[in-house]
Amino acid sequence: MAGSAQAVQLTDYRHLASGKVRELYEVDDELLLLVATDRISAYDHVLPTGIPDKGRVLTAMSVFWFELLADLVPGHVVATEDRRIPASVRGRALLVRRLDMVPVECVARGYLTGSGLADYRSTGAVCGITLPPGLDEADRLPEPLFTPAAKAELGAHDENIGYDDVVATVGAERAQQLRDLTLALYARAAEHAAGRGVLVADTKFEFGLDGHRMVLGDEVLTPDSSRFWPVDGYRPGRVQPSYDKQYVRDWLTGPDSGWDRRTDAPPPPLPAEVVDATRRRYVQAYELVTGRRFDDWPGGDAGWTAGASPAHH
Ligand SMILES: Nc1ncnc2c1ncn2[C@@H]1O[C@H](COP(=O)(O)OP(=O)(O)O)[C@@H](O)[C@H]1O
Ligand SMILES: [Mg+2]
Repeated sequence: MAGSAQAVQLTDYRHLASGKVRELYEVDDELLLLVATDRISAYDHVLPTGIPDKGRVLTAMSVFWFELLADLVPGHVVATEDRRIPASVRGRALLVRRLDMVPVECVARGYLTGSGLADYRSTGAVCGITLPPGLDEADRLPEPLFTPAAKAELGAHDENIGYDDVVATVGAERAQQLRDLTLALYARAAEHAAGRGVLVADTKFEFGLDGHRMVLGDEVLTPDSSRFWPVDGYRPGRVQPSYDKQYVRDWLTGPDSGWDRRTDAPPPPLPAEVVDATRRRYVQAYELVTGRRFDDWPGGDAGWTAGASPAHH
């Protein structure tokens, strides 16, 4: 099904929302089904070609981290194998507790790159936190930072916000809880990954409330929500290669794609070699970071490899 361009839908449950990558369904008042498709985005476009197994890899990886982080904060996962999970989405779907999502993207950064670097270059600070002068692309920060962002509409960039804005949105006590949790989760994850030869440059968490209880939701420490850099190739001062999407980016911006990143034109379908190489990288990232074998993860491709834009409602 690689190359297929239709968005896939389950009919078992009421469809609530489509994200860039996930489809959200209502199981009942308390439970949702969060289905990770094989859609992949690059340069702010969802590509017309999916990467087989990507949704299962991201789901498996999130589950690994939910387990590793469970003593720091409860996760939203109720089940990965359950009679309420349709067979067609086995392995890519999570039965989760329905949360009242906190409207703040809780980002932790251990290294300076992306929008953090852009902020630093124009203001000397990231999200209002002043940093020492002279820092360069991919430099390690003196200490990990909580750099919150406001979620943007589909297709737009998230916007970095200051800690004050978080306080204004959720109150002082909740803001402090979000910052403390984000940094504690990041520290735990970075320590684990470093032991496996991977730097977690930055990552984004989404929390939600289950009554008064703060719960970790969404996906956790996947290549889509994080920057993973192999320790071996780490060289500050230049943009680090992206572990998972580098083949896709190189091909899209190379001569063979015929695509101009600066226009609004949608990117073309990916050739089979790029799809295969990218699939292998996702599986490798999972196995490297978790020490688990992807073959042991349930499910298989059942037509959810479709790329293309999410279904809009
Ligand atoms: N337990 C939960 N309860 C309610 N909403 C959730 C839960 N976990 C994740 N979500 C939401 O589901 C959506 C996941 O879809 P995704 O494709 O990742 O979206 P995005 O394009 O915003 O990254 C996000 O809007 C996320 O906030
Ligand atoms: Mg998301």
